[in-house]
Amino acid sequence: MLETTSTITIQSGDGEIVVPCAPSDTVLRAALRAGVAFPYECGVGGCGSCRAEWLEGETHTLWESAPGLSAREKSRRRVLACQTRPLSNCRLKVRVGSNPYSAPRPRRRLLTLLERRMLTSDMAELIFQGEGPAEFEPGQYALFDLPGVDGSRAYSMSNTPNREGHWHFIVRITPQGAGSAALGRGLGSGEQAWIDAPFGLAHFQPSSARDLLCIAGGSGLAPVLSIARAAATRPIAFYFGGRTPSDLCARPMLQSHPGFGESLRYREAISSPQPNEEWRGEVGFIHELVEKDLGERVSDFEIYMAGPPPMLQAALELLVGKYSVPIQQIHYDRFF
Ligand SMILES: Cc1cc2nc3c(=O)[nH]c(=O)nc-3n(C[C@H](O)[C@H](O)[C@H](O)COP(=O)(O)OP(=O)(O)OC[C@H]3O[C@@H](n4cnc5c(N)ncnc54)[C@H](O)[C@@H]3O)c2cc1C
Ligand code: FES
Repeated sequence: MLETTSTITIQSGDGEIVVPCAPSDTVLRAALRAGVAFPYECGVGGCGSCRAEWLEGETHTLWESAPGLSAREKSRRRVLACQTRPLSNCRLKVRVGSNPYSAPRPRRRLLTLLERRMLTSDMAELIFQGEGPAEFEPGQYALFDLPGVDGSRAYSMSNTPNREGHWHFIVRITPQGAGSAALGRGLGSGEQAWIDAPFGLAHFQPSSARDLLCIAGGSGLAPVLSIARAAATRPIAFYFGGRTPSDLCARPMLQSHPGFGESLRYREAISSPQPNEEWRGEVGFIHELVEKDLGERVSDFEIYMAGPPPMLQAALELLVGKYSVPIQQIHYDRFF
C-alpha cells in the first residue's frame, strides 16, 4: 500500500473530484489509480494531452523542458499532469471524462528479466516475469523507471494479458538513447526493473464487429502485435513497415502465434532500399501500401496504428483527410 501524503482536488465542469496522492506519484498517475478518466496519451511529457490549469498548491516539475507544454502555456499556469508531482494538497482544473477510467488501473510492479533476444540489428524482444497476473488491455504500455535515466520511458506490451505474469516488450535501441540502451542492452538476465503499468487508451476494442486493420512502423510493432494476438481468430489485415529488409521482423512473430490462421493477411514494405540489396517486395511508406491495397475500403475497418509521429501523421492524413474514416474507428499511440 502506498503512503498517502496529499490530496488533489480536480475541478471539472461544475463538479469536483478529490483523489489521494502518494509522495512519488504525479497528478496523472494518482488520478488514474483512483479511477478518474483524466485526459492523457503518452505519459512522458511529449503530447500535451494532460495539460491542466494549476489553481493552488506546491509542485515539483519532473521535466522542465518537456515538449508537451509551451513557455506561453507555462506563464498562464498550465502544467502537464504527467510531469507534475504535488508537494502539498493542491487544486487544478481540467475536463475529465464523465465515466470512470475503464482500463485496468496502473500500479508499480517489479519485473525480473527472463530472456532477451535481438530481433533485428537494433530491436530487442525482452521477456519479463512479474508477480501476480499481467493485467492490461492489448495495445497498452508500461512506464519504466530505469537506473541512471532521467524520466520515465514508455514501452508497449507485445504479448496479451496472462495469469502467469509474463510481460513482453520490443525495444528499438536508438543511437544515444539513454532509456532504450539501458533496457535493450544494459539489463541482464535475472536483473530487475520497476514499471508502472498499464497505461494507454489506444487499446483493443473487442466489441467492434469490424475487421481489423493493423498498421505498424518500426518499434510500433509491439502494441499492434499485442492487439493482433488478442484478436487472432478475427479477420486481420496487418501492415508492417521498416527502412530496410533486415528491419522486417514481424512475419515470424505473427506466424508463431498459435491462434492465427487463414484470417490473417500480412503485408510489408521497406522505405529505404539499398542499391546493393536484393529486395523484390514492396517499396514505399507503409501507409502507401495500405492505400494501394485497400483504397476507400479502409473505412470498413477498425484501425489500430503505432509508430513514429511522422508515420502516424501520414497515415492519419490518408485515413481521415482523404478517405474520411471516422476518428472513433482509429486507435493510435504516438511514440515520443
Ligand atoms: C505510448 C508510447 C509507447 C511506446 N512504445 C515503445 C515500444 O514499444 N518500443 C520502443 O522501442 N519504443 C517505444 N516508445 C518510445 C520510447 O518510449 C522512447 O521514447 C524511445 O525508446 C527513445 O528513448 P531513449 O531513452 O532511448 O532516448 P532519449 O533520447 O534518451 O529519450 C527520448 C524520450 O525520453 C523522454 N525524455 C528525455 N529526457 C527526459 C527527461 N529529462 N525527463 C523525462 N523524460 C525525458 C522523452 O519522452 C524523449 O522523447 C513508446 C513511446 C510512447 C510515448
Ligand atoms: S500525457 Fe502528459 S504530455 Fe502526454
